[in-house]
Amino acid sequence: MEETYSGTFEAALERSRKLEADLTANPQKYKILTGDRPTGMLHIGHLFGSLQNRVRLQNMGVPTYIVIADYQVLTDHDSFENISTYIHNLAIDYLSAGLDPEKFKTYIFPHSHVPELNQLLLPFLTLVTMSELDRNPTVKEEIQAAGLSKINAGMFTYPVHQAADILFCKGNVVPVGKDQLPHLEITRQIARRFNERYAKSQIVFPEPQPLLSKAPMIRGLDGGQKMSKSRNNAIMLSATEDETAKLIKKAKTDGERTITYDPEKRPEVANLLTLISLCTGEEPQAIAERIGDGGGGMLKQQLTDALNEYLRPHRARRAELEKNPDYIRQVLRKGIEQARKEATETLEQVRSVMNMVI
Ligand code: TRP
Repeated sequence: MEETYSGTFEAALERSRKLEADLTANPQKYKILTGDRPTGMLHIGHLFGSLQNRVRLQNMGVPTYIVIADYQVLTDHDSFENISTYIHNLAIDYLSAGLDPEKFKTYIFPHSHVPELNQLLLPFLTLVTMSELDRNPTVKEEIQAAGLSKINAGMFTYPVHQAADILFCKGNVVPVGKDQLPHLEITRQIARRFNERYAKSQIVFPEPQPLLSKAPMIRGLDGGQKMSKSRNNAIMLSATEDETAKLIKKAKTDGERTITYDPEKRPEVANLLTLISLCTGEEPQAIAERIGDGGGGMLKQQLTDALNEYLRPHRARRAELEKNPDYIRQVLRKGIEQARKEATETLEQVRSVMNMVI
């Protein structure tokens, strides 16, 4: 079994299942905080993997805070020219997917615009040791993946910044992928240590729980790895129907003509079947049986039709929102305003327990 900071991955999954049940029963007990880095456009892996889950939680009535982690981009990217474009694009995809700040308690904001949130970083940095930061497995992987020869200190400290992202509003549920579990563990430690060391064991910060997504891992069209823009194997949410058709035509399958659903032995074909299933709700096995000797050509045609139909409303909303940058700005401003209000209250509480009131 694989080890994570907080025990085995299986244990984290089990806790997630229990949390999911309680969220359904008592949505008012919870506050969701999650986020993304603005590093590019989103693809269908993001939609099926995380966006839809956020929409589902929002619709259950759980207040949903989404941080656009713009400062974090600077930890492993040289370029920052396009950050504001990517912030807008993220917001457009969130809204197109159904996150709705008008109807629900949903707030979308870039953390660079919430100074009181960022200020929490200073006390939080005193609650972790250098060696704890140094052994964070996700940070290590990111350093390797980016091939960094010089590593800036922001890279080692961003998990502490992430703790500020989560704790400033006292978020207690964080929907994340497996790679984020070490960061969640640091956040939990910071909350615990803050309460013990600075707050005489009052609960200033709750320890947030990770909520692991139930969505299957979506592979790229090369079939090998997770879908990702940088691996050039993704279908972007903003792609046209023609572009989508062309990409799917080139998707990797295998030499066997008859279509069967076998994720172990035929991962590429299984991935395409899973995608159809996510669009139509039909079981992958049933789709495979129906296609049978129709082969890879028919499989790809069916995926093209299913996906384009499924994405049509998302893409239509996207096109509308793209024409309306003022509305996006208004959504972000509203998110920033709410975030600053909560961050200000939290910072006052923090100053008060730390004897820094003048
Ligand atoms: N580190 C996350 C990622 O790379 C983004 C992120 C920043 C985040 N702050 C967060 C996620 C707070 C959850 C909660 O995807």
